[in-house]
Amino acid sequence: MCAKKVTKAAPGQVETTGHSWDGIEEYNNPLPRWWVWILYACIVWGIGYTIAYPAWPLISGATQGLLGQDSRIDSQKEYAEWDAKNGPIKAKLIATDLNAIKDDPDLSAYAERAGAAVFRTNCAQCHGAGAAGVQSLGYPNLLDDDWLWGGTMEDIHTTVTHGIRNTTDPEARYSEMPKWGVDELLDATQIGDVVEYVLQISGQEHDAAKAEAGKTVFVENCASCHTEAGTGDRTQGAPNLTDAVWLYGGSREAVHQSVFYARFGVMPNWNARLSEDDIRAVSYYVHSRGGGE
Ligand code: HEC
Ligand code: HEC
Repeated sequence: MCAKKVTKAAPGQVETTGHSWDGIEEYNNPLPRWWVWILYACIVWGIGYTIAYPAWPLISGATQGLLGQDSRIDSQKEYAEWDAKNGPIKAKLIATDLNAIKDDPDLSAYAERAGAAVFRTNCAQCHGAGAAGVQSLGYPNLLDDDWLWGGTMEDIHTTVTHGIRNTTDPEARYSEMPKWGVDELLDATQIGDVVEYVLQISGQEHDAAKAEAGKTVFVENCASCHTEAGTGDRTQGAPNLTDAVWLYGGSREAVHQSVFYARFGVMPNWNARLSEDDIRAVSYYVHSRGGGE
């Protein structure tokens, strides 16, 4: 039950609003004066702020504010300043022979730093933060001296520029391993045998009799790309099968998968997204990680 009856406070008592719920009355205490003044001050400051700074949304854009401050324009100006500062060194990076970058201390220092930044933003999600590969399947370690397509500055520059097996750059590096199992090019026994042979040449535990039979299968079907010794062919991006470095795993199961289904690692062509100076910087960065040739 709510009854309204304003009650004047008797001396020494607090005034009530007159609201009464089941006999419980509501005090009529005013807000503290200091609190009210802060509220008014905030309102005045708020109005001042919306006049001075960009604030009110309009149909397109917003009010500009009397101070003309605009963080987007500010950052664009900063970008332009940095670009202007870096302009000459970027131009030099593009003009310098790929193999001569390392001989120029300023240029190599710039390429190292710019390349690291490009790598963090564009490459680390696949190749890992330190370029060591995520060691999830198919993303090569770029630190070692084991290269699919070659580890000279020119090789790396070409790989990064055009990418691998993408459909967007006609100059992309391209090769395709046949799907030996899926397309029934080899039967189950032949595949089983050649897998044992791959385990043998990579120095792993294997079935010697099957590997012996697998050798023939290998020479007839695999050597054209992986070479007869199995050491791989960079002109075709065919990995070395005799070492401990595996793109897709070296276990019996993983090798069987690689042979049965074949693999088809794709990398985008970076010429579509990065400027030539950034491509050169990141190629230099990758090359200087340790595996560069
Ligand atoms: C979407 C994932 C992805 C991104 C992002 C990516 N790569 Fe790759 N990269 C790959 C794959 C997959 C391969 C291996 C392709 C193959 O099987 O031949 C590869 C291969 C390479 C190779 C060849 C390695 C060798 O052994 O020859 C280089 C060099 C390389 N990447 C550099 C880069 C650089 C530099 C960037 C950043 C600008 C980058 N990658 C970004 C997926 C990626
Ligand atoms: C037309 C060329 C070609 C032929 C023929 C070929 N391969 Fe390959 N092979 C490749 C390429 C290219 C790759 C790398 C695919 C990738 O990077 O995605 C590869 C990858 C592999 C891998 C994975 C290696 C790793 O590091 O994980 C194995 C294993 C393999 N091949 C075995 C074989 C066997 C066994 C045969 C014969 C039955 C064969 N290949 C025939 C081109 C070929």
